[in-house]
Amino acid sequence: MFVWNFFASLARSVLPERAIKYLRGDFKSVHGRLHNRWERTRLQLHQLRGGSYLDWYAKRMDGFAANPKIDQKTKKEYHDSGGEDLETLKQLGLKKSTVLHEFGCGFLRSAHYFIDYLDLGKFSANDASGERIRSGVEYIKATYGFDILAKNPELIVNKDNSFDWLDRKPDIIWCHAVFTHMPEKDIEDVIAHLPKVMTSNAAFYFTYSQKPSQRHNVERMGAQDWWHKHGFFSGIADKHGLMIEDLTDFLQERGCYRPEHGLGKLTLAR
Ligand SMILES: C[S@@+](CC[C@H](N)C(=O)[O-])C[C@H]1O[C@@H](n2cnc3c(N)ncnc32)[C@H](O)[C@@H]1O
Repeated sequence: MFVWNFFASLARSVLPERAIKYLRGDFKSVHGRLHNRWERTRLQLHQLRGGSYLDWYAKRMDGFAANPKIDQKTKKEYHDSGGEDLETLKQLGLKKSTVLHEFGCGFLRSAHYFIDYLDLGKFSANDASGERIRSGVEYIKATYGFDILAKNPELIVNKDNSFDWLDRKPDIIWCHAVFTHMPEKDIEDVIAHLPKVMTSNAAFYFTYSQKPSQRHNVERMGAQDWWHKHGFFSGIADKHGLMIEDLTDFLQERGCYRPEHGLGKLTLAR
């Protein structure tokens, strides 16, 4: 790191700002562009063969889910932390009778708290990684003695941002730590399609990662991590005629376990 910092500051003092901008491209920094270079090269090769970012990412998530090396204590703490999301949503108006959909539910970290709390049949979720959902169901049964499937949630595996696959119109859609791993174009796709599954009272809540040092609305690090500012989402909301609220202060006041997270709310314009 020391060597990198030395060369980075040397380059900054020698190269004109224009050259640095060129080398950084749409990344947070030149370092951000080079970070995890091997993964990015694999992604670029995949895209050159006509594959999508989402196909590549879903395959990666499937691979991680099968990784036996994950520390069990960390895994348990990760799953325990889902209770926080239930409390957050309750403060935002979630009731037992609410129809809730989770976009990008992963290992069902928060979903198992939602499913336990909600009335039968009120929960649905989707994720691009079938392995994550499958191993989440298994882990929660083995660790918490809770058979999620007995409460009949609708768990959908797909790689499709169009919402055409969702038969219900949820009161709330929860999308936590998902936009953090999506290119701008895919985020816009999700937001543009939202109105078809939203009623006038429905809300779409999403979290995103941000950094105090962040200069741009969107900054990328390596192959699959992005940081955003609220302004990025408000630009897309305006473009698609949706109302947006910045609830980051609310989230941070209640002490989110990820202090860097921002929270936004999208609703249909009245
Ligand atoms: C960091 S995990 C967060 C999981 C969960 N929301 C939570 O809070 O524990 C991100 C998840 O989003 C899923 N994901 C990302 N982009 C997606 C997309 N376009 N469609 C469906 N799932 C997606 C990934 O497969 C991954 O399981």
